[in-house]
Amino acid sequence: MRVLVTGISGQVGGALMKTAAPTGITLIGAGRDKLDLSRPEGIAEAVSAIAPDLVVNPAAYTAVDQAETERDLAMMVNRDGPAALAAVCAALGVGLIHLSTDYVFDGSGSRPYQPNDPIAPLGVYGASKEAGEAVIRDRLEDHLILRTAWVYAVEGKNFVNTMLRVGAQRDELKVVADQHGTPTAAEDIAAAILAIISARSTGSKVAGTHHYTASGATTWHGLAEAVFARAEPVWGRRPLVQAIPSSEYPTPAARPAYSVLDNSSLDKAVAVPRRNWRAAADATVGLILARA
Ligand SMILES: NC(=O)c1ccc[n+]([C@@H]2O[C@H](COP(=O)([O-])OP(=O)(O)OC[C@H]3O[C@@H](n4cnc5c(N)ncnc54)[C@H](OP(=O)(O)O)[C@@H]3O)[C@@H](O)[C@H]2O)c1
Repeated sequence: MRVLVTGISGQVGGALMKTAAPTGITLIGAGRDKLDLSRPEGIAEAVSAIAPDLVVNPAAYTAVDQAETERDLAMMVNRDGPAALAAVCAALGVGLIHLSTDYVFDGSGSRPYQPNDPIAPLGVYGASKEAGEAVIRDRLEDHLILRTAWVYAVEGKNFVNTMLRVGAQRDELKVVADQHGTPTAAEDIAAAILAIISARSTGSKVAGTHHYTASGATTWHGLAEAVFARAEPVWGRRPLVQAIPSSEYPTPAARPAYSVLDNSSLDKAVAVPRRNWRAAADATVGLILARA
């Protein structure tokens, strides 16, 4: 099975390309140079030239705050690009696994969100991802939309790396403690996608909209504390993390106060590996510190 993977310079796309694919599955990476989602008109040709049996699309415009002032670009990359991908997949008769986000929810809930719960994004990024989901559902029957959350990896622009950078320089920092979600390692998302592709190649197809995150939940403050607990024995010191409300850290885009995702529909459909958020964060922080 030839699987085309987009966004290979990103956290999830990069993790996919680094993970050994199961026997019989060949991953073919296509970066922005080969497949530019902001140029939907070139997508059919780029995908047809590769002639995949399946497409995985982790590529996205992911700058949540910047999206507030770059609406057109965010919509192009997160809605129009995926629309073109879905159209060419339909024409070629192949499936599409598309990544989406917990930020499609408004965060007013108080129990983990299920895939079919009402969506109401708070910002442009969430709206653009929601629009991408909608157009894929509309254009391609053989789709899997996988929403994930709070993604981090050893490399990449993410909260874990930011905390390690800032915490190495400061003895005290303030982190918001009233947004609840589930930090998820890119490598775990990659492993889950490969398990889904394996199941598919043996005739067990997962389709529709599902959620995949680590297990458990925390706040950004809780994640910062976990990062520094792991760094303390290496650094010989531990920064003090002051818990603040989001109102004390205003950002251009509002974030959901609660975006924990219920993973049970995916778990019922297929066996995917899953770690607890803290164990996975611990392991990743260890890898980052070992490289430094
Ligand atoms: N990061 C999170 O916290 C988070 C949370 C929930 C859901 N998600 C979703 O999970 C997926 C993977 O996220 P991630 O964290 O791996 O993202 P990421 O690290 O920001 O990587 C984004 C990838 O998309 C590529 N890309 C951006 N614009 C493109 C374009 N016009 N054409 C082609 N490729 C383009 C980037 O390529 P360049 O290097 O060329 O820019 C990069 O490879 C995305 O769908 C995202 O919406 C992410």
